[in-house]
Amino acid sequence: MAPEEAIRAINIVKRYGNFEAVRGISFDVKRGEAFALLGPNGAGKTTTVRMLTTLTNITSGEAYVNGYSVKSEGLMVRRSIGLVPDVSNLYEELTVEENLNFVADLYDAPRENVKMLLKEFNLPAKKKFGKLSSGFKRRVAIAAALVHEPSVLFLDEPTNGLDVHSAKAVRALVRELNKTGMTVFLTTHNMVEAESIPQRVAIMKEGRIIAEGKRTELSKLIGKGVRVRLRVEPVSNKLIEALLQYGPNFDEGDLVFLIGDVDEFIEEICRLRRTLGFKVLKLSTEAPGIEEVFIELTGNDRERPCHCGGCPL
Ligand SMILES: Nc1ncnc2c1ncn2[C@@H]1O[C@H](COP(=O)(O)OP(=O)(O)O)[C@@H](O)[C@H]1O
Ligand SMILES: [Mg+2]
Repeated sequence: MAPEEAIRAINIVKRYGNFEAVRGISFDVKRGEAFALLGPNGAGKTTTVRMLTTLTNITSGEAYVNGYSVKSEGLMVRRSIGLVPDVSNLYEELTVEENLNFVADLYDAPRENVKMLLKEFNLPAKKKFGKLSSGFKRRVAIAAALVHEPSVLFLDEPTNGLDVHSAKAVRALVRELNKTGMTVFLTTHNMVEAESIPQRVAIMKEGRIIAEGKRTELSKLIGKGVRVRLRVEPVSNKLIEALLQYGPNFDEGDLVFLIGDVDEFIEEICRLRRTLGFKVLKLSTEAPGIEEVFIELTGNDRERPCHCGGCPL
């Protein structure tokens, strides 16, 4: 019997040399669920998709898709999933129909499926792929990922580079697919997208999942972040060490934190004050807006440097 989880990642790590692009993440995606990885550029989203779809090997940890081990049953995994990659892999010079037929033949899938998809997705069969608008190209890429009737669909930043209307249409299409029972795993750096398609969202930053919850709780999940400003004297190394778990930022002499459970945090400060003996000069809280907290959580303005050696980032 098919397992209840369509996707299961257990502490997966991806290392390039001594750089860890994905630093041990775990999650489950239920059959029929739509799940999103939300995070800024460089967070490790594409790397995660590439591991789960067997395009790159997992350095350590385990992952299962449709019950098949990504490490040892790659072929079975690939047969049971569809992938819409971040950069299209279809042929510009072939027509839409030729592209889809090519995929069908590759997977030994009936060409009938292509006919159905052309109709369902309202695609211009005889037009060259290279001549399509980016919105239509994305629709064709989604159709191509569905030719062999997969039960799990991976989409890597499906609306990236699309104008507002095409993005909306693609989101509606993905929601429709999910309604028909398709398990959807998508990545995005867009808050709006994370709030409009999936049932569950995990926020990824610098190779780690830093928060996870239902989409409807996302605002609450993110909005719960209370900004705490703390000024103490003296700031000892021991204090900084003890506060590292809260991810301190420094701002004009204040230590600034984004805290979920403020009560617990204040108790910890009191405990540290007793053991380390510093003086609290300032302790204040403020509740920032959801977008702002997301940016602060993920450090959107501080992209990680690229380690591929071949690009200018
Ligand atoms: N082939 C590679 N070799 C070395 N580093 C890589 C490679 N691919 C990705 N990275 C690095 O891994 C990190 C995560 O990249 P990626 O998964 O593409 O992030 P995202 O999709 O969230 O933008 C980045 O710092 C990126 O430069
Ligand atoms: Mg990416």
